Amino acid sequence: MRHFLEVDDLSSAELAEVLELAASPAPPQVLAGKGAGLVFEKPSARTRNSSEMAVVQLGGHPMYIRDEEVGIDKRESAEDVIRTLARYHSLVAARVYDHKVLERMAACEVVPVVNLLSDEGHPMQALADLVTLNDEFGSLDGLTLTYVGDANNVWRSLALGCAMTGVKSRIACPGDYGPSEIDLDRVRALGGDIEVFDRPEAAVEGVDAIYTDVWTSMGQETEAEARMRAFEGFQVTEEMLGLMSPKGIFMHCLPAHRGEEVSHEAVESPLSRVFPQAENRMHSARGLFAWIVQQ
Ligand code: CP
Ligand code: NVA
Repeated sequence: MRHFLEVDDLSSAELAEVLELAASPAPPQVLAGKGAGLVFEKPSARTRNSSEMAVVQLGGHPMYIRDEEVGIDKRESAEDVIRTLARYHSLVAARVYDHKVLERMAACEVVPVVNLLSDEGHPMQALADLVTLNDEFGSLDGLTLTYVGDANNVWRSLALGCAMTGVKSRIACPGDYGPSEIDLDRVRALGGDIEVFDRPEAAVEGVDAIYTDVWTSMGQETEAEARMRAFEGFQVTEEMLGLMSPKGIFMHCLPAHRGEEVSHEAVESPLSRVFPQAENRMHSARGLFAWIVQQ
């Protein structure tokens, strides 16, 4: 049995298999007559809809479960929740505050567990990001992507995904919000070519993609004002997009806070791929779910 709590739970060869399955025009009906439990402790538009539709396309029945219903570690323990859901479902995917909850669920070894976003990672997003880059450029070989913003859950999974597929990555962020040495070592151990910048302009010069995410993630709302101050000057603007290579694109996992991490004009720019990227959440989820239930 396999779990997908972070991109590097897969080998590079397995990641390539998942990305190939995501592109398959005839989804294998591997969930026919089966259920997939989708548990959410936080709100979601893209992750819920793309996961539900991916399960449907694999012939299965998605069950959306709000945390109010299962009450992880409130109504009953994470272990009792997963041991119960495993009796109905062929995979359980969850969006949680605390990544350790996913690790405890996976440790029960009763059903494949998939991370739909935690405080540490958003690996399902990274799969869609790689699909988007591949669709755009025809290959991931030799690409360079700059992430402008917080070294958060989205950045971590993306940096690992880039490292595993040979995409060079850069991050531009204020010092206090940058990656830890542990993060950088993890990326480099996978062969990742990563550079850290404390200003965006030099970091985006000539790159193939600029990526950003919100400065304040779900669960960090009390830090919002301090973060707004720290990230001043890091907004992705059309002018910044103009510094990329002539074929460069703009990416954002969404939801976007226009006027904060990105300008309205940059989201609406012809270089923006944010909605194809959102669509790719469904294709990549289909690839991952098909792969994991066949292990
Ligand atoms: N990108 C993403 O995960 O969006 P949602 O929070 O709407 O699911
Ligand atoms: N970093 C954001 C991503 C939302 C999809 C968050 O965790 O809220």
